[in-house]
Amino acid sequence: MALKTVIASGKGGVGKSTVCKGLAIKLGEAGKKTLIADCDAGLSSQDIMLGVSEKINFTWYDAVSGRCEIKDALTEINESVYLLPSPPTPVNEDCNEKFCEIISSLEEEFDIILLDAPAGIGRGLLRAVNAASEALIVATADEVSVKGAAKVNEVLEENGITQSRLLINRYDIKAAKKGRLLTVDELIDKTLVRLIGIVPEDKNIMYSTVSEKKLKTNKSSGAFSRIAKRMLGENVELTLSQLK
Ligand SMILES: Nc1ncnc2c1ncn2[C@@H]1O[C@H](COP(=O)(O)OP(=O)(O)OP(=O)(O)O)[C@@H](O)[C@H]1O
Ligand SMILES: [Mg+2]
Repeated sequence: MALKTVIASGKGGVGKSTVCKGLAIKLGEAGKKTLIADCDAGLSSQDIMLGVSEKINFTWYDAVSGRCEIKDALTEINESVYLLPSPPTPVNEDCNEKFCEIISSLEEEFDIILLDAPAGIGRGLLRAVNAASEALIVATADEVSVKGAAKVNEVLEENGITQSRLLINRYDIKAAKKGRLLTVDELIDKTLVRLIGIVPEDKNIMYSTVSEKKLKTNKSSGAFSRIAKRMLGENVELTLSQLK
């Protein structure tokens, strides 16, 4: 049975999709067959970030609507990572139950299913949450993001997700030391969610979505590896010096 993890945040633009892609690649490298389910109907981004937009013929909405088999909607990224793309326009929310059924039908085939949730705490989020069994809450180290993370944690709990972990993204130790960002302790205190890891600010992440050239993303790569290992139950040390 696959681990089904929703990646949520409340506030938009904090890096959910980036984190989802980074973790999927590392989980795949660790030998886990991983599916990214892009749940952001109307604002899909995983197809672009993974460079497979041209290859997509069907999305999960086609499968939900009976226009294709679920296998036709899966796009191979590499031998271990697959994408279930999101429809290009917003969809009728009545399809949430069918969406859950589709995700459940993929549980035998995959070790891990990462559900990349849309921003907000509305019904789009609930589609992803209802299909999941646990959550990663992504937040950046500022008050607005933290408010979103705390709120999304409440929504997750109300919907039966009891296993949530906090992932701090775009962390800049120097800025935090100067008091310009919330500290890690403050982030945990304000969200009341257990920390799974910290991804540093890494400008190459955005460049890599534009440039054809393969860019090194060393700074965040190690963080994604460590978090992927923790997701798989490994005990990996967490220190701020790892982010330098
Ligand atoms: N660790 C990071 N370092 C630098 N830039 C980052 C990092 N993580 C994400 N970004 C950048 O932040 C922007 C938003 O990222 P992303 O699209 O992943 O956020 P999101 O939470 O999925 O947004 P949405 O709520 O719209 O779905 C992108 O330009 C991305 O390249
Ligand atoms: Mg996104």
